[in-house]
Order: sequence, then C-alpha cells, then structure tokens
Amino acid sequence: MPRDGSAGYSEYTRQKQEHLWLILNTIGGVLNGIIQRHQWVNPYILWWDLNGGPGCYHNGSIGSPLLALQMARKYDLPFEASAWEIDDECHGRLVQNLVRIGRLRLVDTTNRQAVLHAEDTRDAIRYTVYPSDYNLTIPKCLKDLQSTAKSRYGMIYSDENGRLPPFKLLRQCAEVLEHCDIIIHVAATPIKRQFYSSMHPLSQRLSEMVKTIGKAIWIVREPHEHFQWTFLIGTNWDSFPIFKRHGFHGLWTPIGREIMRRLDYNLEEYIGQLDLFND
Ligand SMILES: C[S@@+](CC[C@H](N)C(=O)[O-])C[C@H]1O[C@@H](n2cnc3c(N)ncnc32)[C@H](O)[C@@H]1O
Repeated sequence: MPRDGSAGYSEYTRQKQEHLWLILNTIGGVLNGIIQRHQWVNPYILWWDLNGGPGCYHNGSIGSPLLALQMARKYDLPFEASAWEIDDECHGRLVQNLVRIGRLRLVDTTNRQAVLHAEDTRDAIRYTVYPSDYNLTIPKCLKDLQSTAKSRYGMIYSDENGRLPPFKLLRQCAEVLEHCDIIIHVAATPIKRQFYSSMHPLSQRLSEMVKTIGKAIWIVREPHEHFQWTFLIGTNWDSFPIFKRHGFHGLWTPIGREIMRRLDYNLEEYIGQLDLFND
C-alpha cells in the first residue's frame, strides 16, 4: 500500500472512508434523537479515534478525525473527541488539518498534547490530539471517566495499518463505556497468516477475538481486496441499522456467519467446510 506519512493510502481508502461516513452519519442521527429525549444522557458525544492518521491526505481526501467532526457539525452534537497518533509527522499534520479544515483553534499544547476548541465559541466542540501510543493513555482516560461513563454515548474507532487491533483495550473500553459503539476496520489476511504461523502463532481467530469484546450485537462488512479489509461494528443497540446494500450483515445471519468464516479461515479450510455435496 502506498504510504502517506505513517498512514497508508490506496484505491480502497476512498471506499473505506465512504463506509465510515455511512456508519457515522447513521449513528449521528440516532445520537441526536437520544440526547434530545433523555436528560440523563451526557450531551457531549464521545469520539475516540485510536489511530488518528494525518486528518487529510496529500490528495485532499479527509480521514476519520475530520469525518467524525463533520458528523458532529451536521447533527449539531456537542462533541468531545480524542485522537491518538504515535507518529510525530502525522500528529503535526492532524493538528494543522483540524485547524485549517476543521475550523478549530488551538487552546493548549502542553507536552505536545493538543487541545482544540471550535473557532466559533457557540459550537460545543472539544478535540484532544495525543502524540502518543493509545495503550499508554487510554487506561487513564477510562479511569477518569469511570464515574460518568454510564451517561456517555458515542463511538470508539480502531483503524490499524494492517496490524492486530488492540482487542484487550477495546474490551476494557466496552466494559466502561457500555453505550459507546465499537467500530473496527481491520485486515483479516495478516491475522490469518499470524494464526497459521509456526513462529509466533496467534491462539485465537479473528471472530474469537471479536467476541471477547462484550458487545451484544456485531455487524460485519464483506471483505475488500486481497488483504480482506473489513469493518466490524459492535453495539448493544438491537435496532442498529444494517447497511445490507453496502455489504454489511449481522453476524447472527447466515450470510454474516459465512463472511466471518471467510475472514477466519484460509482458503483450504474454508472450502473444506463447505458442504459441496449437499443436495
Ligand atoms: C490506517 S492509519 C489511520 C488512518 C485514519 N484512521 C484515517 O481514517 O485517516 C493508522 C495510523 O495509526 C497510527 N498508529 C499506529 N499505532 C499506534 C498507536 N499504538 N498509538 C497511536 N497511533 C498509532 C499510525 O501512525 C497511523 O498513522
């Protein structure tokens, strides 16, 4: 995949961002209704973007931190967002792009942790960009939120560059923030390679790792490209819309389970499981 700083960019990236927007746009509309109807819900929608990236790519297309901001503005949602970016150059670009494209202003940069607010002070938007590994800061963020976590709605997004998502950390997030949906963009092929590797094998398949995150409902998208890129959405909301037309399916449906088998098994095992001689 061609590089754009530490983030990758390929033909498929445009499709990924379109599908992420589909998810965000849908959840944004629902959250708008929830905060209008329920006084006990903290109106500040939470967005945790574990893999922030540069915010905007060299070809002008925007990434997850700005798509989420666009959603908050579209639905006029008070917004408390955090993005993590371990790569210095990418972190700098993300902060600049939140200012330039996102119309935010920098209010603090102590220890390079950027705190941004909306240029227009009437917009209730706060964005923190951590220049660090999410593994180091998220446990403390969870601890700080503990007492108010039950009233928080929002989303947590993992979008690794082909590496294993941090399932243990995502499980901790799901335990504390039970009303926040988990969105994972992941490549299944490298996970399978690791599972079948004789050197450092993984002990669980993708579906088993996903199940360790305590969410009642999972939605999976059909895999794209050789790397089998997919989205997995975990939620406790049983009416979560499923975008079948775009290749998303509930994991409880026959087609969702079939997609998951394709993501879990290598071709040989997958074909071996098909009951080819069933009449
Ligand atoms: C696929 S890109 C993210 C793209 C972004 N979500 C978007 O939509 O444009 C992955 C990013 O995660 C960053 N990253 C990788 N491991 C990280 C970690 N442990 N903590 C914080 N950032 C990390 C990489 O530097 C890279 O920029």
